[in-house]
Parts: sequence; structure tokens; C-alpha cells
Amino acid sequence: MSNREEISLAAGDGEKVRLFFTPVGVTDDKLRGCRAVVVDVLRASTSIVQALSNGANGVIPAASVDLASELASQLPRDDVLLCGERDAQLIDGFNLGNSPAEYRREVVKEKQLIFASTNGSKAIVKAASADKVYLCGFVNLNAVIDALLADKSTFPLIVLCSGNYNRFSLEDSVCGGELIKRLSERLEINLNMNDGARASVMLVKEFGNDILKMLNESDHGRYLTKIGMSSDLPLCAADSTYSVVPVLRDGRLVRL
Ligand code: MLT
Repeated sequence: MSNREEISLAAGDGEKVRLFFTPVGVTDDKLRGCRAVVVDVLRASTSIVQALSNGANGVIPAASVDLASELASQLPRDDVLLCGERDAQLIDGFNLGNSPAEYRREVVKEKQLIFASTNGSKAIVKAASADKVYLCGFVNLNAVIDALLADKSTFPLIVLCSGNYNRFSLEDSVCGGELIKRLSERLEINLNMNDGARASVMLVKEFGNDILKMLNESDHGRYLTKIGMSSDLPLCAADSTYSVVPVLRDGRLVRL
């Protein structure tokens, strides 16, 4: 955290929650000593939650397609599935794309997944310097909140939105805002929020009532619809339908 940020947060009372709209500028220094919740509603969080809940052994996030392929070549081929996307489409030579519906039990059970997506997997890799990393989408929102509340030290908390090519994404910001809002309601305390966290809670007021509509109207939602993947949007809009909480352990996302 920069000195200026440190001083402005220290000036307020309460537990510290910071939300960043993209991983840009979120340094290892900022993350150290914090819990981090990474959000990529469309679609990495949703697909990974689905995979783990359908029995995948773990998901290794890779920061690039090349790194994912290199990693796969070092692991026993039968156990591994190469997954992810570029421009939201299946990558040449990969087993699975990034539609949550692809991560069926009969496909992923007992497999090790290596996952390279445009924004989500990069954000997860970046978050690794935090003391503990959780992965969140709308589909496991309440489960992540339960896990944070059960954690021996929930704060300081960083909500890291994956964004869209290093730009703001509405769906991640609304999901992050909803997480902060519900967390503060459950704790019955006022949180000491940075501007990003405060703005994301405001966004919930505008967009939180109809998540599917918000996804349909978001930049990435409209792109997915344009390329014929609109059926993914309701899967990503479902609120707390999964109890799985992916956490990062030794570079691998596993069930908490
Ligand atoms: C990402 O990581 O950027 C995404 O999950 C993109 C997508 O496949 O929709």
C-alpha cells in the first residue's frame, strides 16, 4: 500500500476493505498481510466453481497459454485437462473452453485442470502474495462470505476484480460490491472502505436487483451473446447456488 493510501485508510475506524476494479497497480506489497477475494463472474470464477463442485481435484491457474501448455507437458497426460480461452473461445490443442456447462462431472472428476483465461487466471496468479486467496462469483457468493466469517482473520480484506483487459468490468464490480454489502450486514459493522469498495456498493443499488439483466447489458455479456454464448449468462447470474469455495494452496485452487 502506498503511504498516502495507508494514511487515508488509517484515518477511518473499522475493519479495512479495499476493492480494486482491475489488477493494475495491485502490487505484492499491497496484498501481503491481507485476505484476497478474486472475482471473475464472466466466466472464470463460475467455471472453476463448477469444476471443483463436479469433482475436479484442483485447478492450476496459469498466467498465459504458453505457461499452461508447458505445465501440462510436465504432468501425466491422463490426469490433466488443459482449459481456458482466448477471446472467450476454445484455445487450439486445449481440452475445454470456458463455458461453465463444459465442466461436467463425467469430464472433470478426479482431473487436474490447468486453466488459462484472459483476465481471471492472471488475477488469481497475481493475488497469490495475499495470505489467503478465495475465488468468488455470484454462484458461490454466500459460501465465500461464510468462509470469510469463519476465517480467523478476515481483515484487512482485498477484493480484486479481474476486469476486462485491464479495464473496469461492471459484473465483477457489482459482485464485489454485493460481497462487501452482505459481509457488512452479517457483521453488523461499518467497514473502513476505500473509494473502490464504496463505489462498488453504490453499483449494487443500481444493478443488484436483476443480475441477469446486468450481465446481458455488460460489455463482456454482450460480446458473449454476439459470439453465440448467451446460454452461459444465466449460469453465471445464479446467486449462491454452489457451496464450493475455491482457495489457492501452493499455486492450485482447491475446495476449502
Ligand atoms: C477471463 O478470464 O477473461 C474470462 O473468464 C473470459 C471469458 O471466457 O468469458
